[in-house]
Amino acid sequence: MGFLTGFFALFFYAAVIIFVAGVGFKISQYARTPAPLKVPTMPAPLTRKGVAFRLFTEVVFFKSLFRANKWIWILGWMFHFALLLVLLRHLRYFVDLNSPLWSWVILIQPFGKYAAFAMLAGLVGLLVRRFTVERIRYISIPSDYLMLILLLFIGITGSLMTFVAHTDIVQLKNFIGGIMGFSFDAHMPSDFILMLHLFSVFMLMIIFPFSKLLHAPGIFFSPSRNQVDNSREKRHLAPWAAKLEEAE
Ligand code: HEM
Ligand code: HEM
Repeated sequence: MGFLTGFFALFFYAAVIIFVAGVGFKISQYARTPAPLKVPTMPAPLTRKGVAFRLFTEVVFFKSLFRANKWIWILGWMFHFALLLVLLRHLRYFVDLNSPLWSWVILIQPFGKYAAFAMLAGLVGLLVRRFTVERIRYISIPSDYLMLILLLFIGITGSLMTFVAHTDIVQLKNFIGGIMGFSFDAHMPSDFILMLHLFSVFMLMIIFPFSKLLHAPGIFFSPSRNQVDNSREKRHLAPWAAKLEEAE
């Protein structure tokens, strides 16, 4: 095993462990945080099914952002939807080399490939907005810029491999398949752009559980979005308050 293979293998394990454990911990923390008051943003759904539908429209279409600001919606939604396509296209690097690729992953390959441009355009737009809109610049902190720049860097290095300087995909698949099974026989391709791409991806995974990127799991726990508006029909009692009442 060469230095490069060893370094990236270890970095991969560290990134996966920090990402999975960190996000898992944050999710369990969110799930345990009491929501003592009914605070759904009105007009709010009256049933649990309605809440599921509301969350669906938020997650898939960014509905409240659409109502708030059309420009940011276009840029933000374009970036996120393209990111999703890009990530789904990446699945082909992680499935077993010996089994055929799932047909839907094959189907989305061209979309995932060109989605890179939509992703980059969205990110550039969001970054320009942070610099140019006075109000937004005032409330922006370094991490707001860092996230956008890191994602841009990942997108640019990825696109360079896809459209300019290809890397050896079969060797990369062997390397990833190998380290996922704790075998280090296959070497990491020694392309500089691939190294930059993977380095920045692993950095993103490490930062994820400590950053605003937690909005991805967080939206599902947001009381203003996930509560049923039934306070007239049913008295709302937080679990800790119910215990106090029982004790009295
Ligand atoms: C359930 C999945 C997700 C949903 C529903 C979601 C939704 C949103 C929304 C509504 C915004 C606010 C846009 C604004 O008002 O400025 C936002 C911002 C952002 N999201 Fe996501 N997101 C998700 C996952 C992700 C993931 C996985 C990443 C990256 C790995 C990401 C990266 C970002 C970034 C960098 C911003 C800040 C953009 C800026 O500077 O304004 N999001 N997201
Ligand atoms: C360990 C994880 C990853 C590996 C091994 C990987 C590897 C690659 C490779 C080999 C390419 C070139 C594809 C080709 O030549 O056809 C690529 C492209 C790309 N990657 Fe990644 N990548 C990873 C994670 C990510 C993540 C998390 C993002 C986004 C945040 C991303 C964004 C992109 C983009 C935008 C492209 C160009 C468009 C495309 O080909 O889909 N990559 N990646």
